[in-house]
Amino acid sequence: MPDGATARAWRATIMHTPRRGAVDIVEDALVEVDAGGTIVAVTAPAAADYAGRMAAAQVAGTLERLGPHQYLLPGLVDLHIHAPQWPQLGKALHLPLDRWLTERTFPLEARYRDAEFARRIYGSMVDTLVAGGTTTAVYFGTIHRDANRVLAEICLEKGQRAFVGKVAMDDPALCPPDYRDASAHAAIAETEDLIHHIRGLAGNAAGLVRPIVTPRFIPACTDALLEGLGDLARRCGCHVQTHCSESDWAHRAVIDRLGKTDTRALADFGLMTRHTVLAHGNFIGDEDAATLRAAGSGIAHCPLSNVYFANAVLPVRRLVEGGVHVGVGTDISGGPSASIFDACRTAVAASIVLDEGSDPAKVAASRGRPGSRIDFRDAFHLATVGGGEVLDLKIGKFAPGYRFDAIAVDTMAAGGGVHVFDDVDDLEDVFQKIVYGATTANIKAVWVDGRRL
Ligand code: GUN
Ligand code: FE
Repeated sequence: MPDGATARAWRATIMHTPRRGAVDIVEDALVEVDAGGTIVAVTAPAAADYAGRMAAAQVAGTLERLGPHQYLLPGLVDLHIHAPQWPQLGKALHLPLDRWLTERTFPLEARYRDAEFARRIYGSMVDTLVAGGTTTAVYFGTIHRDANRVLAEICLEKGQRAFVGKVAMDDPALCPPDYRDASAHAAIAETEDLIHHIRGLAGNAAGLVRPIVTPRFIPACTDALLEGLGDLARRCGCHVQTHCSESDWAHRAVIDRLGKTDTRALADFGLMTRHTVLAHGNFIGDEDAATLRAAGSGIAHCPLSNVYFANAVLPVRRLVEGGVHVGVGTDISGGPSASIFDACRTAVAASIVLDEGSDPAKVAASRGRPGSRIDFRDAFHLATVGGGEVLDLKIGKFAPGYRFDAIAVDTMAAGGGVHVFDDVDDLEDVFQKIVYGATTANIKAVWVDGRRL
C-alpha cells in the first residue's frame, strides 16, 4: 500500500467549492501530489499538458483511478469536538446547558483519569470520525495528562490531522472538586506540558497533530487562568480554542461577572488571535464581530448543537459576509451526530428557519430575519475551505500548494444515503445529493497528506 512517501497522482472527477457560492466540478481531472502530501498541480483534460502529465504519472506507476460513480471531494474539517463526550453522543439532550454540564458532562469527563478508558473510547471515536470523512479534527480533551497524551498519540497513529487541547478549568464556582484544575498555575503548567509532549512526538515533525490552548469557557476559569493562558498562547504561538457567547446563560454569565461580552473579555485576556477558534458565537454582536474580524479569529459554527443548547440560530451568512472566518463543528456531544455532512445539512436548514422565522402565530413579514439563508454550496464551503481559513491551514480545496486531504465518495454504495439517476441528474445534482445525503457508507477512501488512512 502506498503510504505518501512518494509522489503520487489521482485521476478523478473532483468536486469542491474553492469560492463561496459556487461548485467547481472537473471531470477526469489529474491531481498530482508530492511526496510530502502537497498538491503540485490540478490539470483538466482541456489543458495542453494533460496528456503528457497523465502519461508520465502512468509510467511512474503512481497513478490511482477512482472507480465508476466515485468522486473526489476535499476532506471535511470539524472545528469543534469534545473527545471525552464520545460515549454521550445521542444522550442527555433534554437538559439545558448549565445542568447538562454539571449533571452529565463533568462526571463523564472526570472518568478520563483512567487512561485505559481514554484509550478505548478515543480509538473508537477517531476511527468513526475518519470513516465519516473528517480529515481535520479540533479536539477538547479533558484535564488529565495521560488521557490527553493518549488522544494525541491515537490521532497521529491513525493519521488524522488534529489539534488536541488540555481543557483548562479551575473555577470552583462552576467546576466540581473531582473535575477541576488544582489552580491556575497548575492548569497553565499542564497545558505547557501537553504542548511540549505533542510537539516532541516521534513521527510528528511535520505537525500533523498540534497542541491548542483550551480554556473551557470563561465561566469555568478564573481571571488568573485566562490571563496566564493568554500569555502562554503568545509565548508558544499555539492555536487557541474556547466557547464564546453560546447560549443566553453562558453569554449573560460573562457580562454579569466581567461587565463585558465574551469576545471583549477574551481579547483583553490575549486569547483572541489569528489562530483562535471560538465555538458557537451565537450571541456575538456587531461590535464583537468587528473585534473578531480585526483579530482574524474564527467561529466554529455548530448548528446541530445550537438547536439543543443555544437558544438561537447563528446568523452565519451575516458574519461571513462581514468578513469573519467561519467553519463548521459537530460539538460532539452537544449534537447527536458525528457527521460533518449532517452539520452542513443542519446549517442550511437552520439558516432557513432564521431567514423565514418559526412562529406561525406571527405574520410572515415579522417572522424571521430575511437575508439569512445559506445553501448546500455555502455549507460545504464552510466545512472545507472555511475550516481551513479559521485554522490558517492550506486545506479544503484542490489547488497547488494545498494539502491532499480528500475523500472518495461512492454514490452507488450499498446502504448509503445518495440515490443518483444518470438520466435525471447532472454532476451538480450529484454534488448536491452528496451534501444532503452522504453517509459513512458512501465514503470509500480517506486520505490525509496524500496518505490513505
Ligand atoms: N460550554 C462549556 N463547556 C461546554 C461543552 O462541553 N459543550 C458545550 N456545548 N458548551 C460548553
Ligand atoms: Fe462545545
